[in-house]
Amino acid sequence: MILEKMETRTARSGVIGLGYVGLPLAVAIARAGFRVTGIDICSEKIERLKQGISDVPDVTNAVLAPLIASEQLQVTTDFSVLRELDTVNICVPTPLGENRTPDMQFIIAAVQQIAQYLHPEQLIILESTTYPGTTEEVVLPELSAQFPDTLQVGRDFYLAYSPERIEPGNSTHSVTNTPKIIGGVTPQCTHVAKTFYAQFISKTHTVSSPRTAEMVKLLENTFRSVNIGLINEVALICDRMDLDVWEIIDAAATKPFGFMPFYPGPGLGGHCIPIDPHYLSWKAQMYQYHARFIELATEINSEMPKYVLDKIIHALNLQRKPLNGAKLLILGIAYKKDIGDIRESPALEVIRLILDKKAEFLYHDPYIKDLSLDDTEIYHSEPLTAALVESVDCVVILTDHTAIDYNWLVTHAQLIVDTRNATRSVKKGQEKIIKI
Ligand SMILES: NC(=O)c1ccc[n+]([C@@H]2O[C@H](COP(=O)([O-])OP(=O)(O)OC[C@H]3O[C@@H](n4cnc5c(N)ncnc54)[C@H](O)[C@@H]3O)[C@@H](O)[C@H]2O)c1
Repeated sequence: MILEKMETRTARSGVIGLGYVGLPLAVAIARAGFRVTGIDICSEKIERLKQGISDVPDVTNAVLAPLIASEQLQVTTDFSVLRELDTVNICVPTPLGENRTPDMQFIIAAVQQIAQYLHPEQLIILESTTYPGTTEEVVLPELSAQFPDTLQVGRDFYLAYSPERIEPGNSTHSVTNTPKIIGGVTPQCTHVAKTFYAQFISKTHTVSSPRTAEMVKLLENTFRSVNIGLINEVALICDRMDLDVWEIIDAAATKPFGFMPFYPGPGLGGHCIPIDPHYLSWKAQMYQYHARFIELATEINSEMPKYVLDKIIHALNLQRKPLNGAKLLILGIAYKKDIGDIRESPALEVIRLILDKKAEFLYHDPYIKDLSLDDTEIYHSEPLTAALVESVDCVVILTDHTAIDYNWLVTHAQLIVDTRNATRSVKKGQEKIIKI
C-alpha cells in the first residue's frame, strides 16, 4: 500500500528538523508533488517559514513562498501530525558533546516523538550524520519499545538510514541530482526507502545495511578532513622552504589521474568536517582501535588558526608594527565562501587569538551582519569602503567570498594576509600580500 502511495505521490511526507539539510529536502519532496509537513522545535523558525522566509541559502524565498502558500509544504512545531504521515525523514543536528563524543540527544528526542505516533506502513529514515550502528542500536530500540508486540520492523513499519550529502552553497549538486545512499534494516525497508527516494532523486545506490550507509558518510567526510590535514601540513612545510603551496597544488592538479586538489586554509569549519571524524574515531575505540590518521589530521587542522596568527604577526613585523594595538580588518568570518554559516568557523578562533594579543578587530562579511563572540560582545559587519580598508594596518582574508572585488581591495589595502589565495588573479600590488 505504501509503495503505491509513493508511486502515485499521494503519500504524506514529513521532515523533522528544518535546517541546512531538512529544508532543502522538504522542498525537494514537495516539488515532486508530495504533500509535506516540516516539523521543527524552533517556533521562531516555523513562524518565518510560514511567512515564506528561508534561513537556508539553498532554498530561496521565491521557491519556498509558493509551496507554503499552496500548502504543498506545511510547517509546524506540533509533532502530533506524525500520526498522519506515511514517510518521516529525520534531519536533526548531531553535534559533539562533552569530551568531543557524539551527542545523540536530538536524534533521541525526535525518535521518541515518532515512536508515540508510529503506525503500520510508516517509513522512517534517519538522514543525520552519525556513527555506524545508530539506526539499529539507538533508533530501532526506541521505536520498537513503544509497540513491541504489534509493530515489527520490515513487516509493519520500515526503517532505513540514508545520509544527506548536500553541500550548502553548491549550485551544481543539489538534493535531487546527488546520488542517494540507502541502507534499510531489512531488504523490504531498503526497497520501500529506495522507492520513496526514486520519486525525487535521480539516482539511488543501496547498500547492505544501515551501518554500511552510516559508514559511507563518515568515510566521505573523514576523507576530506584527512586530505585537508595533509595539505595544511604541506603548506607548513612549503612555508619553511619558501615555496608557494598554491602554485604547487595547481601544478599537481594538472595530472589527469591519481591526484585531486585540496587546499590549505585557516582551519576546518561547518557542521560536518570538523565533527564527523570524531564520530568515527569514538566508535572505533569500542573496537579497541585508535584512529591515528583521523586524530593527526584533526590536530594539524586545529593548529591552523595559530599559524594564521603567526602570519599576521610576521606581516606586521615586516612593516615594523606590533600586533598589540594594530587595527585589523577580518574579511569573511563564514566557514566557507558564499554562505552565512559560522558554525565551527576557524575565523572565531583567529579572532579570539588576535583579541588576546590586544589587536583592534573589525570585520566585514556580506553574509553575516552580527557576530556574538562567546556570547559576550556583539560585533557588526562594517561596510566595506575604501576609507575603511585604507585605515587598517592589515586586512586578513579568512573567507574567499565571491562578492568581494579583490583587485579593488588590494589597491586600497596597506597589507593583506590571504589564507585562501583569494587574491590569486590580482595583478598589481602582490608585494602587499602575504599568503599561507
Ligand atoms: N549542513 C550540512 O552541510 C550537512 C550536510 C550533510 C549532512 N549534515 C548532517 O545533517 C544533520 C542536520 O544538519 P543541519 O546542518 O541541517 O543542522 P541545522 O542546525 O541547520 O538544522 C537542524 C534543525 O533541527 C531542529 N531540531 C533540533 N532538534 C529537533 C527535534 N528534536 N525535533 C525537531 N527539530 C529539531 C533545529 O531547530 C534546526 O532547525 C546533521 O547530522 C549534520 O551532520 C549536514
